[in-house]
Amino acid sequence: MHTVRVELGQRSYPIAIGEQLLQPEQLQVFLQDIVKSRQVVVFTNETLNQLYGGQVRKALAGRQIDTFVMGDGEQFKSLQTYQAAMDFLMQHRHNRTTCLIALGGGVVGDLTGFVAATFQRGVDFVAIPTTLLAQVDSSVGGKTAVNHPAGKNMIGAFYQPKAVVIDSSVLSTLPAREYAAGLAEVVKYGVIADADFFAWLENNITPLQQRSADALAHVIQRSCEIKADVVARDEREGGVRAILNFGHTFGHAIENLAGYGTWLHGEAVSIGMVMAARFSQKVCNLPQEQTQRLSALLAAFDLPISLSEPASVTDMLNAMGMDKKAADGRLRFVLSAQIGSAWVTDSFAADQLEDVLNEFCS
Ligand code: NAD
Ligand code: GLY
Repeated sequence: MHTVRVELGQRSYPIAIGEQLLQPEQLQVFLQDIVKSRQVVVFTNETLNQLYGGQVRKALAGRQIDTFVMGDGEQFKSLQTYQAAMDFLMQHRHNRTTCLIALGGGVVGDLTGFVAATFQRGVDFVAIPTTLLAQVDSSVGGKTAVNHPAGKNMIGAFYQPKAVVIDSSVLSTLPAREYAAGLAEVVKYGVIADADFFAWLENNITPLQQRSADALAHVIQRSCEIKADVVARDEREGGVRAILNFGHTFGHAIENLAGYGTWLHGEAVSIGMVMAARFSQKVCNLPQEQTQRLSALLAAFDLPISLSEPASVTDMLNAMGMDKKAADGRLRFVLSAQIGSAWVTDSFAADQLEDVLNEFCS
């Protein structure tokens, strides 16, 4: 087992990474110092409950264990599910000392975190992420939310877990498309923070396609280290944390225009990163050869690098205006002048942006 720490003063926490960490004996040992409460609630969905719910409950034996099972899908990251979760906690007489356990991907994790942030003004929660995306991104850093019909993640809070437990073995049951979507966020870390890691990914395409345990261990650890470092420097996204959104301004617009559910988040981010790289070529001279390397790596992971259907440039611009990174009505982008570094800017010419949109939307 390897541990990465998110250093946030009193709110610091460990991310435990390893194989078979969800085996009840192993999990029990790890959780005994973290989950002190007599009452726990496992938050999960139907799919994950069947696959791993039993072993997580076994590891928690000796406590009052309730299980809140939500529907499987982004549409369940909603105020309706939040209300049902609150009803469940009240009906089962949970209180301020209860600990919530989020067992699932980003949907379960985001919802559980928001419930934990707000139930009786805040209770402990532990994240057990089961998708690659959740293991390398959404379970770390304390962004919790539910969606509003007008926009994704519009209702939420920054609220850190007490611990994150990442068992890479659970990725063996993850559908291929979901696995690839997680790799998009992994590639992002190479672009924004670590050129050597990017090159390592280029040299380890086959082991990653095969979900090799050693390759995954390295990928998850390095991704969590980068995310933990960024979050420790800027927990509430006042500055540097926004670099984690490389490709996301374009990506969110792509997701939104196609209709949620058409592209997976990671797939839209994959296309968005290629667009951000093309934009970076124009605004800050990212070498063309680096955009080509990025496109080739994403394509090798079976990720899309262009839109499947033409789109309207005006619609894309409007959709990007809805993005949370559009401060004061001015669009901001994460750009990279060199693989391995990135920064946020609103300084670019309108025609540079339109050129990129025309190139991808036609
Ligand atoms: P998800 O939670 O919907 O999971 C994807 C699918 O995989 C689901 O059907 C799920 O049941 C299934 N699944 C999960 N683990 C499995 C396993 N081990 N074996 C078999 N099936 C498994 O999707 P996701 O990509 O994990 O998360 C997407 C969500 O994360 C979005 O709502 C997004 O907004 C959010 N997100 C949050 C942050 C953050 O910082 N909080 C960052 C990125 C994304
Ligand atoms: N996924 C972006 C962030 O956590 O800030």
